[in-house]
Amino acid sequence: MKEISFPTFQLSGKKAVVTGGSKGIGLAIAAGLAHFGAEVMITGRNEEALKEAAEGLSKQGYNVKWKVVDVTKKEDILSFFNHIDNEFKSIDILINNAGMNIRKPLVEIEEDDWDRVMDTNLKGVFLVGQQAAKRMIAQQRGRIINISSILGKTGASLQTSYAASKGGINQLTKVWAAELAPYNVTVNALAPAYIKTPMTEPFLQDNDKYTSIINRTMMKRIGELDEVIGPAIFLSSDASSYITGQILYVDGGWTSN
Ligand SMILES: NC(=O)c1ccc[n+]([C@@H]2O[C@H](COP(=O)([O-])OP(=O)(O)OC[C@H]3O[C@@H](n4cnc5c(N)ncnc54)[C@H](OP(=O)(O)O)[C@@H]3O)[C@@H](O)[C@H]2O)c1
Repeated sequence: MKEISFPTFQLSGKKAVVTGGSKGIGLAIAAGLAHFGAEVMITGRNEEALKEAAEGLSKQGYNVKWKVVDVTKKEDILSFFNHIDNEFKSIDILINNAGMNIRKPLVEIEEDDWDRVMDTNLKGVFLVGQQAAKRMIAQQRGRIINISSILGKTGASLQTSYAASKGGINQLTKVWAAELAPYNVTVNALAPAYIKTPMTEPFLQDNDKYTSIINRTMMKRIGELDEVIGPAIFLSSDASSYITGQILYVDGGWTSN
């Protein structure tokens, strides 16, 4: 029998960028990447929040770099990738995570609401992913993990633009996987259900909504931030080397119900 070589989850020597890494899911994944040995750069719009996040991680023994980048601004993204080329030197892992939501009934959505959600969640993911892909093609290696949602697959009231943006992320994940596979670059999406973060906290405080979410979830609870880290590390590491174009649901069984 051929000798089995065991995969590693270690990320030492890898350079990772997490967009929207100043709080919530992005910050948790950034901590996880650093814990598993990667050199990490977090981005977001708010400088104070980034500094605070980096200081918090530093107290836990993880030194992460940060940079202000608004993913709705192409000039910000281009200048950020110049910084990556000149200072950070390479990008092996992209966690394409920055996102937002505006919950409104279909008939009340303003054009500007639609544009803000789509520009952040879908166009931002495209623009950042495109720049990362150029570099990963050149170096013939890389991992792109786009942060989708169960709402990329299922419907729910008040989620017109958000669900459309996440459905779009699922599709571009598959297209990029096909295009980048020849270059040893894998592209997958992580699709969480409800996880308690600054984005969802106000929504989850509504008792009726909270109860309906719990009832809808096989595991009868919402997800913890730590529970997104393991899947993100798996998709970032050599352990997932033959997995591409997949949407990995981190949803306590929601989408199988
Ligand atoms: N929490 C959940 O239950 C859940 C479930 C499924 C999917 N998701 C997805 O997971 C991702 C993170 O969500 P979260 O709950 O952690 O949200 P969050 O706590 O609100 O964090 C969002 C992050 O994105 C950044 N961001 C927002 N707009 C940006 C922009 N235009 N440019 C750059 N950065 C921007 C924010 O920083 P600044 O505000 O400083 O820019 C922040 O760091 C999102 O894509 C979300 O759709 C979340």
